[in-house]
Amino acid sequence: MNNSLYISQLKKDTNDMWRETLGCSGEIAYKRAHDDKIEKEFWEKYSLIYDTIPSLYDYWPETFDKLVDIIGTQKDVIEFGAGTGKFTLPMALKQKQVTAIDFSKDMLQKLQCKIGDLTNIHTVHGKIEDMENYNVDSVYSVNAIYRISDMKVAIKKIRSFAREKVVFVWTMQRSKYDEILNSTNKKGILRRQEYIHIMNILYDLGIDGNLEIMDVHKKIKIDNIQSNYEELKEIAGSYDLDADYLIDTFNQRVTNENGITYYQCPQKVAYIYFDGCANCN
Ligand SMILES: C[S@@+](CC[C@H](N)C(=O)[O-])C[C@H]1O[C@@H](n2cnc3c(N)ncnc32)[C@H](O)[C@@H]1O
Repeated sequence: MNNSLYISQLKKDTNDMWRETLGCSGEIAYKRAHDDKIEKEFWEKYSLIYDTIPSLYDYWPETFDKLVDIIGTQKDVIEFGAGTGKFTLPMALKQKQVTAIDFSKDMLQKLQCKIGDLTNIHTVHGKIEDMENYNVDSVYSVNAIYRISDMKVAIKKIRSFAREKVVFVWTMQRSKYDEILNSTNKKGILRRQEYIHIMNILYDLGIDGNLEIMDVHKKIKIDNIQSNYEELKEIAGSYDLDADYLIDTFNQRVTNENGITYYQCPQKVAYIYFDGCANCN
């Protein structure tokens, strides 16, 4: 029970607010968030191409350095949602031991194939919420909290595994035009599940969480710029914005490299971190 003025002003439980955002970006995301079988099948297929498609580590490796700054080196750590190991493998070079936990056997198998001579990665199949009795220096995850339903229980459990830090690295799933939209006088357009939900839960649990936002850019290839203009016009129509302004601002972020057109899409990566509690009474 949190007796603070802030929590009493909220009309809903912070955990319910979080839960209602699960999979809110669309039908497939909703099914993946709520149905283990669908999520399992998703990764069964997607694991085959995951490493061929640039994700956070590939297009902004500085996000790895920031993570290491937070957790330190020569530690015993858990990474949950390790996937094919994009962060796990470089992390193993910095740490004593990395326990890589993942819900998808298929993703873990891809990681196992890449471990090579490294002897300090231990893979575990399962959900972080279902794990028991770990005691490590820190626990971290990168883009892997999107289907944890009872976040309060999960945070308490994950904290109980960590003597030092818990870190959630999370790329905000915003519109690719978010920075452009946010530069208008209307804020929050097309924003859904956000770091603020986790900050609320931490506050509710009596934990003062740290939040840092890193600005990154993802280069998106543009095949038909007219379709981007059409999307922007549609958003302008829906939210009563100036379409010419949106298109001009978008054009300022378009580059041409060797005849290929790219949109330098700005993204926000949240680092939410807080103290572990493995040594708490
Ligand atoms: C978007 S991928 C990210 C993989 C990796 N962290 C990366 O940055 O490349 C998400 C991964 O988290 C795993 N995952 C999702 N929810 C999980 C949970 N509750 N516990 C453990 N793994 C989870 C999925 O199976 C998937 O492999």
